[in-house]
Amino acid sequence: MPPGSVLRIRPYVPEDYRAVVRLWKRSGIEVGPSDVPAEIERARRRDPGLFLVAVQGARRVGVVLGRFDGRRGWIHHLAVDPAHRGRGLGRRLVLELERRLARAGCPKVNLHVLRSNAAVVPFYERLGYGTRDLLFLDKWLRGAPIRPHRGRYPRDRGESRTPDRPRTRGPPGRPSGR
Ligand SMILES: CC(C)(COP(=O)(O)OP(=O)(O)OC[C@H]1O[C@@H](n2cnc3c(N)ncnc32)[C@H](O)[C@@H]1OP(=O)(O)O)[C@@H](O)C(=O)NCCC(=O)NCCS
Repeated sequence: MPPGSVLRIRPYVPEDYRAVVRLWKRSGIEVGPSDVPAEIERARRRDPGLFLVAVQGARRVGVVLGRFDGRRGWIHHLAVDPAHRGRGLGRRLVLELERRLARAGCPKVNLHVLRSNAAVVPFYERLGYGTRDLLFLDKWLRGAPIRPHRGRYPRDRGESRTPDRPRTRGPPGRPSGR
């Protein structure tokens, strides 16, 4: 194997940005307001050793954005180039991230999977992850997506992205009963 084709995993550097975003988009990862260059740079600075890129020569073929919030480790935006899947790279990325998290004192790793991407769950199960029966709630404090959800993300239920009907019952802020 020529030296350029050796696959290695290294920390993300800002020069990776465009290639990594392309890889996320090619892999069906939702690239949102938290993925603009300034936000990505903030994530990198906070956890420089947990944002990992797999490179083969000059090509970025895998990525995982890891975080440690002081209590839990988090896996975000794991993606392997479609041409490199099924060869153990996804596992290598997750295990390398786990190794680094464990070294930082992290006892447990969490991740979210969109319901529309449930087919990926067996991959994580192969790596020892279990599924918890949880409801996931969120709220944007700034930089919300252009079409913010009202109560739930339609796509999480496999529905099309039609705008929600305007709320007709009750004054603003009162529960609608849903
Ligand atoms: C999920 C993903 C990262 C897996 O990468 P990969 O390099 O193909 O995975 P690996 O080759 O390391 O697979 C590790 C194991 O999981 C299994 N596996 C991989 N994808 C699987 C799937 N979709 N369903 C069931 N098992 C799967 C492999 O067969 C392998 O099993 P083994 O233990 O017998 O060797 C890749 O498919 C991807 O980028 N998907 C699109 C983006 C995505 O969904 N990311 C997750 C967001 S939560």
